[in-house]
Amino acid sequence: MKKRILIIGACGQIGTELTAFLRNKYGAHKVVASDIREGDDELMESGPFEVLDAMDYDAVQDIVINYEITDVYLMAAMLSATGEKFPMKAWNLNMNSLFNVLNLAKEGKVDKVFWPSSIAVFGSTTPKQDTPQRTVMEPSTVYGISKQTGERWCEYYNKRFGVDVRSIRYPGIISYKTLPGGGTTDYAVDIYHKALKHKKYICFLNAETTLPMMYMEDAIRATVGIMEADEKDIKIKSSYNLSAMSFNPEDVTASIKKHIPEFTISYEPDFRQEIADSWPSSIDDSKAREDWGWQHKYSLDEMTEEMLKNLKGEYK
Ligand code: SER
Repeated sequence: MKKRILIIGACGQIGTELTAFLRNKYGAHKVVASDIREGDDELMESGPFEVLDAMDYDAVQDIVINYEITDVYLMAAMLSATGEKFPMKAWNLNMNSLFNVLNLAKEGKVDKVFWPSSIAVFGSTTPKQDTPQRTVMEPSTVYGISKQTGERWCEYYNKRFGVDVRSIRYPGIISYKTLPGGGTTDYAVDIYHKALKHKKYICFLNAETTLPMMYMEDAIRATVGIMEADEKDIKIKSSYNLSAMSFNPEDVTASIKKHIPEFTISYEPDFRQEIADSWPSSIDDSKAREDWGWQHKYSLDEMTEEMLKNLKGEYK
């Protein structure tokens, strides 16, 4: 099989687990991991790794050519909360990295591109419940604006130049291996660490903030699933709505209390509350289910069990 994969942003929350999964599936030497910095030992030692600035076109092109890359997963991005602190940096990273990869695909140097979008493409004027695939989109964060713009460019490169680019709008992703960084949904990871460590948690969102979320195993399955689907089944060339569960901090607290009854939560909402309030509470992902067979596995309680089981060792 000719397939050779490049993961850009391999040391991030999703990149780390995607790298491990794809190396396991296709063979370590077929999956080149890259990031602006070196990663943990497991990632560095399990296959090829290159330090790479995703904004440097020549550097990305060199790696694509040297390793004869066919598929690129572009996972590097600045997320919503950090993006509000460094708007131009977020815009430049999120857009330039995408253009670099789309242009390499346009020139026929790679066959297929995965680029993640986000629930952040929606805004306060979007219907909040069961947000449809096609609806009002007026994002209010730099991150959301960059993702919505990116979706338009993905569709444009497909229609205009025939680029095979595939995308899903990730909800908040929860995992135990690598911490997320700079997102509005990060509390849903931190809460498990603090529950085990201190039996209490101070949450930066209020109790009622319901957001769409997903366990990492489901997110990886969706990512690889859309990349492996037949090209003709990928009817939406911008980005697919994707959903698994929706919950608020109170719901996670109740789920954790089933295992750690003494756990308590208090609330000190900060600037991230406004971002969260502009996002949907639940997502209609029927198009992804119809077109390429997406199915989620994990519910909140199943995820809580996995998270606590796997993190327990760290806090003994
Ligand atoms: N998890 C992201 C964030 O909170 C949303 O895509 O910014």
